[in-house]
Parts: sequence; structure tokens; C-alpha cells
Amino acid sequence: MNIERLRADTPAVEHLIHFNNAGAALMPRPVVEVVTAHLQREARLGGYEAAAQQTPDLNNVYSSIARLINADPDEIAVIENATRAWDMAFYSLPLRAGDVILTSSTEYAGNYIPYLQLKQQRGIEIRVIPNDEQGQVSLPALKALLENERVALLSLPVIATNGGPVQPIEQIGALARAAGVLFLLDACQGVGQMPIDVQKIGCHMLAATSRKYLRGPRGMGFLYVEKSLCQNLEPAFLDLHAATLQTPDSFSIRGDARRFENWECNVAAKLGLGAAADYALAQGVEPMWQQIQQLAGYLRERLAVIPGVTVQDLGALKSGIVTFTHHGNSALQVQQWLAAQAKRINVSTSTFSSTMLDMQQRDLVAVSRASIHAYNTDAEIDAMVAALTRIPPA
Ligand SMILES: Cc1ncc(COP(=O)(O)O)c(C=O)c1O
Repeated sequence: MNIERLRADTPAVEHLIHFNNAGAALMPRPVVEVVTAHLQREARLGGYEAAAQQTPDLNNVYSSIARLINADPDEIAVIENATRAWDMAFYSLPLRAGDVILTSSTEYAGNYIPYLQLKQQRGIEIRVIPNDEQGQVSLPALKALLENERVALLSLPVIATNGGPVQPIEQIGALARAAGVLFLLDACQGVGQMPIDVQKIGCHMLAATSRKYLRGPRGMGFLYVEKSLCQNLEPAFLDLHAATLQTPDSFSIRGDARRFENWECNVAAKLGLGAAADYALAQGVEPMWQQIQQLAGYLRERLAVIPGVTVQDLGALKSGIVTFTHHGNSALQVQQWLAAQAKRINVSTSTFSSTMLDMQQRDLVAVSRASIHAYNTDAEIDAMVAALTRIPPA
């Protein structure tokens, strides 16, 4: 793991301590170069003409993403963010009244709201899998729930937006496969942070985003749909990219996962997403994951001994998302105080409404979220801890 190289590729670390990688990470130089070069090309040639010139590179975006998650390029759709990618999978499922969706208490509101919508519209049922004593999905409880033959979907995030456990997704996937239940994985906070291998996980569908741990541009994401499912899953929305008119009365839908895409997109950002996947692969996702865990572990240790600070992370395996509360200051005040330091420190606030089930269970209103990436350092963590010890009571 070449930290100097990672930092040299991330010039903003000179003036900024960026611990908001779960919000949007700093793009490395090669990604910025790919995006800006394409914008220049569009300005010079015209948007359609510039895209035509980059056809091979645009096709390579699918191969790069496929390599990153051990899929086939035909199983990848590039969609404008993780939410819409997830929606395209979820709303395409033929869920009917009485069908049961299993999810975790760590579910993201952006996914939970669609469950509620289909509950209201179609009468589906939502069941939340109980957690074990360490705070992650209980595998025996999941196994028991999967015995209900009305379970039509298992759907949860590998890592929640407000930190918490890294869910044991390979064991979860194995249970879903054994029960013959579709598994939709929200890997939005996982891709780029930790190794994600769809073959090992056994998920049927996976949604992720570009701008977070993957360090790509904003406004981009992708969906993976397993080949055998893809051909049988009719997208909830179609357009002239996903399908082709055959006669005035008939159309045919593409056979690959691009049936979940739509035609117009931010081509520069799409190329940037491919460059971000290439960058992560070149650095090595596994060594970055080791580095992230080591740094996050160090931050948790240092936070735990600051008077008034409580680390809020659960789970046998924890991620780079470190969450905590401060007894005298709200999460927003902590965020503002850190941002006001001479060398600005970016952390964010994770609020009740984005992970309501979990926050309610743990009686939390908001948490401060410091999300660490492999390009961060112990010295940056020390600077944040020092600033926190100086925070005046509100
Ligand atoms: C766990 C999780 N899922 C989904 C999303 C949505 O991703 P996007 O904003 O790219 O749609 C987020 C964003 O914070 C997230 O943390």
C-alpha cells in the first residue's frame, strides 16, 4: 500500500483533512483528468461526437466495474446514482400482495421508503431481521425467517450510511441461495472500501455509487444483475436505449443489464467512474481495506478516551465509517467546529431520518460521522482528536 502515492494523487490533502468519504470522497488526480479531458472534448467537438470518439473507453467502463466486483460486463448497468440503480432493480421485481421483504435494522431510508410504498400500493409485507448481540444481522434469525415461503426478497446494505457493522454478506448470501430467495445488496458504502465479490456473496442484484469510497465523480452509479435473472426481469421503465421498436406495435428489450439504463447520461462522469474503478484496482482494494480498518480502529481508540465522547459503532467487523456522539455538543456543532479549524476537518452528521430503524433502536437522534479512507493518516486523526478535545461546551 503506497500511501505517499495515494496522497500525491489527492492534492487537496495539503489543505484539508477529509473524513467525509462516506459522503463523497476526494477524487484522485487520474479520475479528475479523465472527467475534465472529456468535458474539454465535448466543448471542442460536440457532445455526441466526443462520445462517439470514446466508444472503446465507454465500453471499458463496464469491464472495469465488472472486474472490481467479479462480474461479467454484460451484468452491469451504469445508472446515475445508487438510489436509481437500486430502484431499477427493486421496482422491476414482480412483488405481489402478501410477499415478504426481509431487511436489516441498518436499512437506508432511501430503500425503506420504496418498501413502504409497495406495502401501501400492493400489500407487500416488511420484516426486519433481528440483530445478534454484536449488532449485526443474526444468521439463525435470518435462517428461521427464510423458512416462510412468502419471502420474496432479502434486501439490505452491507454497510449502513451511519456506520455500524459490516454485515456478514457471504453467510447472508449463502442462506438466501439455499432458500431460493432473491438477494438485493446495497453496496453503496462497500464498493471501493472493501472487497466486494458478487460470486462469493451470491447476491442476485447489487447497487452502488461512484462518488463515495470508490472516489469517482458525483452523479454516477451502477447496478449489477446476475445474467440468468437479467433476461427474465423486465425493467419497470423502458426507453429507446433499453428497448428497440420492432414495428409500430412491438418492441424488444436488450438482453444484457443495460436494459436497466436510460439513454442520456453524463458521459464525462461515466468515464470518470470507469477511471475510479481502474484506480481502485491498481491500488488494490484489499490493501486499502486493511489500511482503512487500521486507521478507523486507531480513531475509535483515540475517541474512546476523550471525556464526553461516546463511540457508537457496533458489529464484530467494523468499517471505515466511525460514528460518535458528544455529550455537550450536537453532531452539527461538532461538524461546524471541526470545519472551522485552521486546517479544515470535514466530518458529517448522520441523522435519525436516514437510518430510522437503527437510530430508534439505539435511542440516537444524530451521530457525528468521520469516514476514513486509505489516503488518510494517523496524523490527520491526531489533529481531529486534538480539535475535539478543545471543543467549547455549547
Ligand atoms: C447505504 C446507502 N445506500 C444508498 C445510498 C444512496 O446513494 P446515492 O446517493 O448514490 O443514490 C447511500 C447514500 O448515502 C447510502 O449510504
